Amino acid sequence: ATGLLADLLGRPLTDLRISVTDRCNFRCSYCMPKDVFDKDYQYLPHSALLSFEEITRLARLFASHGVHKIRLTGGEPLLRKHIEGLIAQLAELRTPDGDPLELTLTTNGSLLKRKAAALKAAGLQRVTVSLDSLDDAVFRHMNDVDFPVVDVLAGIDAALAAGLGPIKVNMVVKRGTNEQEILPMARYFREHHGGKVVLRFIEYMDVGATNGWRMDEVLPSADVIARIAAEFPLVPLEATTPGETAQRWAYADGGGEIGVISSVTQAFCHDCSRARLSTEGKLYLCLFASHGHDLRPMLRDGASDGDIASAIGHIWQGRADRYSELRALRGPDDSAPDAAAPRRVEMSYIGG
Ligand code: GTP
Ligand code: 5AD
Ligand code: SF4
Ligand code: SF4
Repeated sequence: ATGLLADLLGRPLTDLRISVTDRCNFRCSYCMPKDVFDKDYQYLPHSALLSFEEITRLARLFASHGVHKIRLTGGEPLLRKHIEGLIAQLAELRTPDGDPLELTLTTNGSLLKRKAAALKAAGLQRVTVSLDSLDDAVFRHMNDVDFPVVDVLAGIDAALAAGLGPIKVNMVVKRGTNEQEILPMARYFREHHGGKVVLRFIEYMDVGATNGWRMDEVLPSADVIARIAAEFPLVPLEATTPGETAQRWAYADGGGEIGVISSVTQAFCHDCSRARLSTEGKLYLCLFASHGHDLRPMLRDGASDGDIASAIGHIWQGRADRYSELRALRGPDDSAPDAAAPRRVEMSYIGG
């Protein structure tokens, strides 16, 4: 079951994003608002989670279909017990050409200082760190668990020291909440780390069903770029790979680069090559999907590698998802999710 797959819109399958836990120690309001994710919230029971062996087996079968990049997500992936054990297993996998897979992880950075060296030793190549503000009060408010910003900055330093760079830092921009942090963030990451950190600004997305998303809290990436360019002139860069989420910009003075991820104002579905595997083994074909394809029964009922690989192939070949593009067609002011549509999966469950 090798060979390249294409979906109904001709898009290849090259990236697999694997969620390893639906839990997080933060409560960012755009992702896990406290009033929903409270002490009574039902997280997945341990028996529902895919084991490291099950995840690695699926990843190997995805690699046989052309996946060459794996990103571990959550929830907060560093909360999964002994995550470095999974990384070590994934680091053994090879593409059909015999190359190692690109292996990365997206984290809130809170446990990075403690874990960076072990992650690197296990074979992780890079990390992406979420950070929405350098101002401690704003940051504590946005993570909503009073977590201090200095600890995330220390995690970034530790990851660079461990050799997990270049690092991407993701800032979700919410109008009226942290837009005043755009320039301080740009200045800080220009001045520190000698170009080894690439800051990306993410438009607040209408993902999931609990964050109360509204269009008027979205700050379009074009505004972000204009604000930064007023202080530091920018020049656009070409995309490095098709299907890339971020549009890249370089500082004209050679001070490194930044990116913007504009899912709301400039959808990038046309070459989306990403599949998402949930913590319990459901395959989702879009970040905004309501329904996943459950692979766990096959894993646990003795299906062969060939059976599972061909199931994955059929699922991808039937894919036509392009949520963000369709949402843009509905018009810029359409804030309300379609009431008749089934409930969308949560970001903390499916990974970003
Ligand atoms: P690189 O490929 O290393 O640049 O990382 P990435 O941009 O794919 O991943 P990352 O985890 O850093 O995600 C950045 C932001 O883009 C997050 O807010 C994601 O939720 C969002 N994102 C990633 N993939 C998609 C996608 O397919 N669709 C949409 N709408 N958003 C996405
Ligand atoms: N809109 C945009 N980005 C989001 N993330 C989580 N929820 C949202 C949202 N509603 C980001 C996180 C992290 C990445 C995986 O997704 O901050 O950087
Ligand atoms: Fe946790 Fe990341 Fe969601 Fe924030 S955005 S609640 S850090 S999973
Ligand atoms: Fe891919 Fe869906 Fe995101 Fe579009 S909205 S880029 S199809 S994950």
